[in-house]
Amino acid sequence: MDTILILDFGSQTTQLIARRIRELGVYTEIVPGDSPLAGRLERPDLKGIILSGSPESVNEDGPAPDPAIYKAGLPLLGICYGLQRMTFDLGGRVDALERREYGRIGVSLGPPETRKGPAERFLAGFPSPAFAAWMSHGDTLTSLAPGFVCHGTSESGFPAVLAHESRPWFGLQFHPEVSHCESGSEILASFVFAVCGCEKGWSMGRYLEEAGKSLAGRVGDSPVLLLISGGVDSTVAGALLLKTLPPEKVHLMYMDTGLMRKDESREVKAILEGLGARNLHMIDCGAEFLAALKGIEDPEAKRKIIGDLFITVQARETERLALGDYFLAQGTLYTDLVESGKGVGKKAHLIKSHHNVGSPLVEARRRAGRLLEPLDRLYKDEVRALGGLLGLGPEVLSRHPFPGPGLAVRIVGEVTGELCDVLREADAIFVEELKRRTGPTGRSLYDEIWQAFAVLLPVRSVGVVGDVRKYGRVLALRAITSADGMTADVYPFAVADLLEISGRITNSVAEIGRVTYDISSKPPATIEWE
Ligand code: XMP
Repeated sequence: MDTILILDFGSQTTQLIARRIRELGVYTEIVPGDSPLAGRLERPDLKGIILSGSPESVNEDGPAPDPAIYKAGLPLLGICYGLQRMTFDLGGRVDALERREYGRIGVSLGPPETRKGPAERFLAGFPSPAFAAWMSHGDTLTSLAPGFVCHGTSESGFPAVLAHESRPWFGLQFHPEVSHCESGSEILASFVFAVCGCEKGWSMGRYLEEAGKSLAGRVGDSPVLLLISGGVDSTVAGALLLKTLPPEKVHLMYMDTGLMRKDESREVKAILEGLGARNLHMIDCGAEFLAALKGIEDPEAKRKIIGDLFITVQARETERLALGDYFLAQGTLYTDLVESGKGVGKKAHLIKSHHNVGSPLVEARRRAGRLLEPLDRLYKDEVRALGGLLGLGPEVLSRHPFPGPGLAVRIVGEVTGELCDVLREADAIFVEELKRRTGPTGRSLYDEIWQAFAVLLPVRSVGVVGDVRKYGRVLALRAITSADGMTADVYPFAVADLLEISGRITNSVAEIGRVTYDISSKPPATIEWE
């Protein structure tokens, strides 16, 4: 399959380059920018290389690519630092700007008659001779490398679009991968199709076919165990295993920690049964988790207890299944590999605690060569598309994220079974109301919001019910919009929605006397309260 290789020099937007190109139907891989590339450059499916941006400077020992890329005869596209890197490596000069160029900046192309050779092909795909690009750079080119011609400048007069006069080498000082960059996708498409000559070969239909064959080939007759959390990734992984392997070989294990949302375990069970699961192991360990959490108020202590107990129960229950030399499957995504630095890109952008990371069970299966990660080349949006092909509906695919430690990090202070019940009821009302209300874009409020949930506070407050004084619990509602959970904005509800939701909660859940709306963005506040 035709592939574009992306050298990651540490830019926050490297992943976006890969995603935009995959959206165009072409497969991309990301490797650390300074990886040795012997063996890779000769692969016939490799059609071009993109050098990403970076927070570093070429003049201060910023990371450099394997020099073999300049001898491979492959098309190259340098983006921001990638362009500066190529210029520096090939004999040009890069210097610091007095004031960095940042944000939306106009770029104008030179007249078409000045374009020759490779530039003609690349620039023909730019939809407009002047467009608003998006930039973020503190260095600029002060002398072009021999053979390079400037075909476009920024509104401050800096080189913004370059092409080599005879080789298929190009540079952009702006970021076409960022959504604020006008015509960014068309510009990337021009490189990928007009210059590199890629054929569209990347689709979830094709992935399903290939993953099916390779899973069946690898697993043979062995049993496979998948731990299901109820989230999108593990459910899609389960659906994929059930579709591509004999269902009687597939064991799905789900731990009900007692910290799940209302009806969650029942729904997960119904969905998996609907997918044809034969060996569904629902482990009811709620009492064990609540006992371990008794008297614990500190959030970090709660997380540690839950993480450790997860591992203990997982090991015990797996042992009990006595599956012999089984394969362990996980719903790891491409971004998880990048974040954990497992040989994809090297820069960690996000720190997320996940109960499967570092699990001795997973590590032992990995060492034995018996770990399956069938989604590990996919991005989240691709996993959703794959889930759709596998017959999963919006109740799974559009579900808001839910943290591993569950309701325990949404009950501030000590967690008890009674408080879990109260929170479950209030949270379910909140979510139900979001699903039945329509937002400004015509979708349900639930679909417009990235994540919404209720938090139970260790605070009581006075109220009246009838003529009686009531000393009820305080509940906080949280609803945010976000692209990836790294930053978040508060969802701007219409006041009427908040009033009605609050009214329904206090009328229906006797223990709750007061409802507040959390109006903190991230940063500084995290999405979860603990
Ligand atoms: P924070 O609270 O860090 O959350 O702003 C960012 C996103 O991650 C989720 N989250 C977790 N997910 N285990 C998980 O699997 C955890 O311990 C955990 N803590 C937070 C959170 O719900 C949000 O989507």
